[in-house]
Parts: sequence; structure tokens; C-alpha cells
Amino acid sequence: MGKLIIDNLCKHFGDVKAVDNVSITVEDGEFLTLLGPSGCGKSTTLFAVAGLDRPTSGRILVDDVVFYDGGQQAMMPPEKRNCGLVFQSYALWPHMTVRDNLAFPLEIRKIGKSEQQKRITDALGLVEMENYQGRYPHELSGGQQQRVALARTLVYEPRLMLLDEPLSNLDAKLRIRARRWLKELQGRLGLTTIYVTHDQIEALTLSDRIAVMEGGKLVQLGTPEEIYSRPVSPFVADFIGASNFIDGFAGDDDGDTVNITLAEDVSIRAKARPGVKKGEAVRVAVRPENIRLVNGSGVPGGSNALTASIRDRDYLGARFQYILDVCGTELRMEAEQNLEGSQVDISFTPEDCIAFPA
Ligand SMILES: Nc1ncnc2c1ncn2[C@@H]1O[C@H](COP(=O)(O)OP(=O)(O)OP(=O)(O)O)[C@@H](O)[C@H]1O
Ligand SMILES: [Mg+2]
Repeated sequence: MGKLIIDNLCKHFGDVKAVDNVSITVEDGEFLTLLGPSGCGKSTTLFAVAGLDRPTSGRILVDDVVFYDGGQQAMMPPEKRNCGLVFQSYALWPHMTVRDNLAFPLEIRKIGKSEQQKRITDALGLVEMENYQGRYPHELSGGQQQRVALARTLVYEPRLMLLDEPLSNLDAKLRIRARRWLKELQGRLGLTTIYVTHDQIEALTLSDRIAVMEGGKLVQLGTPEEIYSRPVSPFVADFIGASNFIDGFAGDDDGDTVNITLAEDVSIRAKARPGVKKGEAVRVAVRPENIRLVNGSGVPGGSNALTASIRDRDYLGARFQYILDVCGTELRMEAEQNLEGSQVDISFTPEDCIAFPA
């Protein structure tokens, strides 16, 4: 266990800046998620921490131990770093049974046979694979192999846990159970963890903090709540949860919210992010779950109220998803009601609207 410092890390592949000046400190025992779209540099960052690839520049330290220092040309070999790794491709040793896959890292660490068996049974129990000890990897499904790969990491209690999409091959229900035990286990063992995913629900439910990456850069670092409710850019607003975007022009600012003109005689109020200037174009993010239908009791005081036309509707089981049109812009909204007619009155609070400079 330890505090991991990633300092100005760069990894270039020719002209591609796969990791571009990323600095993140992961606290001792913290669960930090790297989140971002395909190709944004998540795995490359993880590989650099694990020591599987030599960075271009920067520094990586755990407490006072230097994993990598570009200035000093120092690079600790991966086997000395004691990192537990699970990769996207969960490679198990194909010629070893499940039991032997888990025993191998313990053997290397010279752990006695009876302690080995206890740890193996415990770790496999955690991933619900205790009855598969005698199977070979090719006799398991993809999801089962992934669970064994995770157990193999847990079995020797590493200094850092580095997990790259470790649940991606599990079915939806098992994935939810797996998330729960992974989080519980990580907390109980106090393992400093970097978790890579492009699944935002996974990131929101598991993480102490989330680092959002875009094009090799760190664009926002914060708690799930901060990232969800105070995104720094339209990219983050859309990547964590879905957002609707409406374009307009900024008007007067009352110190709390700013007036946004969407069309002639149509305006709303929104929270402005830094950089929004009066008279300039803005892009306003509103989440579908924050849009309410106006019913008999009218619009709550201070809320934005708009009339929208209904362009399309989809039945989702318990709810309907509506595609609305407001001043030529598409807005998504969910509601329990199967709405009649072609028009609907909606409202949303200024606090739920974030205006970014366009
Ligand atoms: N060995 C390599 N040689 C050249 N380019 C590479 C190499 N490895 C990665 N890249 C490039 O670096 C960028 C970041 O890749 P990386 O694997 O870190 O993405 P990622 O965020 O993990 O994406 P995904 O979610 O698809 O796994 C990509 O543009 C990728 O094509
Ligand atoms: Mg990857």
C-alpha cells in the first residue's frame, strides 16, 4: 500500500501523444478511476505505472520509491514494483490450472503450502470461482477467466492494484455483483487502486475519485459527485451521464445565474462556468433526468419553463424516452407518462443548467 505520485507523465509513440503531461496523486488506500473514450491514454498510463512500457518523460513514485524518473533516467523493472495487474485481455497461463495460476505468484513469494491453499480458496471464493480450481483456462468462459485473473491479483496482496477493464467480459448481473465485492474488498484490504474503464456507471459507483482523460490529457479530477454535477467542459458533461446541449447567447448575470437567450422571446437562466461573457455564444448542458414535465401544479418558482414539440418517443419498459424539439434543438427527456399530443410543457432549474463558453 502506498501513495502513488504520477508527475508530468508523457508517453509519445512517434507523433501520437498517448499520455500528455498527466499529473495525478493517488492517496494511500484510494480507489481512483481513469475514465475516458477509447484511445484517450488510459491503458498507456497504467502500463507506465506497472513498468511494462518506458515513458517518454516525467516521474512515477510510490511513497519514496522511484518507479520511474525521466530526468534521472531511472526505471525500476516491473517485477520489483509489486503491482497486481489485471489487463483488458486477462491473460492467464494457459498450461496451468486455475489453482496453479493462483499458486504461482505465491510460490515466487515463498509462501508456505498450507497458507497458499487458504489464500487460493479465499481469493477464488471472492470471485465465486472456488469450484473451478482444477480447470484449465481454455475450459472457462471469457468472464470466468477474467474473474480468475482478478483472484490471481488479490491472492498476493500487492502494493498497488492496477485494473484495466477487469469486469468487461462479465454479464450485466454478475458485473453488478462483482462491482460490489471489488469495492468492498479494496476498502477492506486498503489497496491503493487505479481502475481503468470507459463505463461511466462503473466509474461513478466504484471510485473515490475519477480522472477524466481526453486525447492523452487529464481534463478533470474529482469525486464522482463533483464530476457529475460540476463538469468543467461539455465533453465531461456528456461523457459522465448523458447531457443535452442547447446553444444560445449570454446576457445579464445576477451574480448567481446568467440569462441565456435561446431564440427571440425565449430565454432561460443557467449557472455559468468561467469564461462565459455577456453577448457571446454559449453552450448549455442539461441532463435528461433533470427535465420535468409541467403538471397541474405549474412551474416551481425560479425554474426555467419552455414549450417543446415532441419529435419521437421510445418505450423503455417502465418509462418513455422522448425526443423533444426546443428552438430547433433536440432534447432528450424521460417520463413515466405516455404523453398525448405533439406539444409538452417542461421545466428545469437554473442550478441544473451549466453554461460553457461555446
Ligand atoms: N505501441 C503503440 N504504438 C503506437 N501507438 C500506440 C501504441 N499503444 C497505444 N498507442 C496509441 O496511443 C493512444 C492511447 O492508447 P491507449 O491504449 O492508452 O488507449 P485507451 O484509453 O486504453 O483506449 P481503450 O479504451 O480503447 O482501451 C491511442 O491513440 C493508441 O493508438
Ligand atoms: Mg485500454
